[in-house]
Amino acid sequence: MESWQGLIDSEYRRWLPVTDRTPSVSLNEGNTPLLRSRHLSDLTGCDVRLKVEGANPTGSFKDRGMTVAISKAAEDGAELVLCASTGNTSASAAAYAARAGIASAVLVPAGRVALGKLGQAVRYGARIVEVAGTFDDCLRIARDLADHHPVALVNSVGNELRLSGQRTVAYETVDALGAAPDIHCLPVGNGGNITATWGGYRTFHAAGRSGRLPRMWGFQAAGAAPLVHGEPVAEPQTAASAIRVGDPATWQGAVDARDESDGLIGAVTDEQIFDAYQLLARKDGVFVEPASAAGVAGLLDRHDRGLLARGQTIVITLTGNGLKDQDASLRDGYTPVETGSSTAEVARALSHTALASALS
Ligand code: F0G
Repeated sequence: MESWQGLIDSEYRRWLPVTDRTPSVSLNEGNTPLLRSRHLSDLTGCDVRLKVEGANPTGSFKDRGMTVAISKAAEDGAELVLCASTGNTSASAAAYAARAGIASAVLVPAGRVALGKLGQAVRYGARIVEVAGTFDDCLRIARDLADHHPVALVNSVGNELRLSGQRTVAYETVDALGAAPDIHCLPVGNGGNITATWGGYRTFHAAGRSGRLPRMWGFQAAGAAPLVHGEPVAEPQTAASAIRVGDPATWQGAVDARDESDGLIGAVTDEQIFDAYQLLARKDGVFVEPASAAGVAGLLDRHDRGLLARGQTIVITLTGNGLKDQDASLRDGYTPVETGSSTAEVARALSHTALASALS
């Protein structure tokens, strides 16, 4: 079997807006695992699958759209790519720009980005500007700058290139399952991903590759849930920093995905998000960043309220890798157990931990 070469050089190329003149700027993104969650399947009586997007090269689903956006920017001779970001888009843009030999600049809300993501942008060589404001402020400024200067804006806002790449998550899912699932759950921030994922399912449905369409179930953090309230939130609040978005740029696309699929966009509390975050790591061995657990939190919320029928096939997008946000992983505290370096001392130390019974 030929090894995976990334999305542009995959079987999905025909669904992407690239031509023979488009250079393929790729880090071999896509082709991510679709893992069955035994725990969530047993709990819900459904067949629950986890689409592990943290396995992408920069650790989030953003790489799917970025390979297309930066390849096109390279084709167009762009000298600078620009984006606003809660962290993942900036890490991905900076990596693909580095690969293409294009300079990158990123606008992030000051002090609100997980350090792992900032570190990625630093290492990939992006010019980073921390804006005293929200992500929404950053995006407004980035759009303003792109309107007046010759830079390639790589946010997904109205960016058909980004969205076309992100649709591939639905193509991979349909090809793995043989059809669309009954329900597709995912976190919602700026609205691009739910729009693109739904668009992907529609594309494959129209092409006869899936006999059915899923319901799209999107979940926002309760303190940053403009799509649930039906109006922007001026000061969005949530510890799931990736989805701290008060005025989603792809608002209409997200609402259309919900309505056309007979789906929903609901809110989950930070407590529910962190419970799901913990559960995924403990029960499935999958380490995600907090925002990425919102889809699982939402599914469990529906299940707890008796709103989830058994026997359905459910796919949940886990959007980003847990390694990006160690503040989150260690936020409940971690107390190291320290000892000298003899076996006896280590055995004694272990006897103070939960391993005691296993060892005795
Ligand atoms: N999950 C993660 C880990 C994200 O980084 C994002 C968005 C989302 C979910 C929500 O996706 O915005 O398409 O609805 N992150 C953007 C960023 C805002 O700048 O990295 P969405």
